Amino acid sequence: MKGIQSISVVFALLAFACSLASAFDPSPLQDFCVAINDTENGVFVNGKFCKDPKLAVADDFFYSGLDMPGNTSNPNGFAVTPVDVDNIAGLNTLGISLARLDFAPYGGLNPPHTHPRGTEILAFNIGKTKVVAFTGLSSQNAGVIPIAKSIFGSDPPINPDVLTKAFQLEKNVVTYLQSMFWSY
Ligand SMILES: *[C@@H]1O[C@H](CO)[C@@H](O)[C@H](O)[C@H]1NC(C)=O
Ligand SMILES: *[C@@H]1O[C@H](CO)[C@@H](O)[C@H](O)[C@H]1NC(C)=O
Repeated sequence: MKGIQSISVVFALLAFACSLASAFDPSPLQDFCVAINDTENGVFVNGKFCKDPKLAVADDFFYSGLDMPGNTSNPNGFAVTPVDVDNIAGLNTLGISLARLDFAPYGGLNPPHTHPRGTEILAFNIGKTKVVAFTGLSSQNAGVIPIAKSIFGSDPPINPDVLTKAFQLEKNVVTYLQSMFWSY
């Protein structure tokens, strides 16, 4: 019994020691691994197949268009232009990506969300008619989980009784929220 108790104490201490978490991609094992969709003659690493390194070209590491404003004519007044491994194949295994965020001048909102595979740093440019932010992410594709959509717009829906209790709301408010269209 003593032994079990002391093991529990050790686990409890370890749990406290591990309270800080950060997310990032596994370290790459090669200098680059340009992603290809063709599985015929590729090497499978980190979720994408790699091009034969001898065939890599400068364009595999190039993207243009970050100077173009995103379209913020939507209910959130917000647009995101992602530049991840799906836009720059050369980012595969490099553990990095970026994005341009455009906000409508008055009240544009990037709704609460999390990135399951990366941490993010943002730089804001606030002008007279535009608010633009650029982000750097510690993943080739950090993923995104929009909080409101994943809770009230999930398919199949979460049982409204669960949401009523968990969010301390009236049930008709929950069913109203669940009936709305959540794009993000
Ligand atoms: C690979 O497939 C994805 C998903 O179908 C597509 O978005 C991407 O453009 C394709 N990449 C290449 C290099 O063909
Ligand atoms: C922006 O999006 C809105 C809504 O989808 C659309 O009506 C409008 O034509 C778009 N504007 C541009 C410049 O693409």
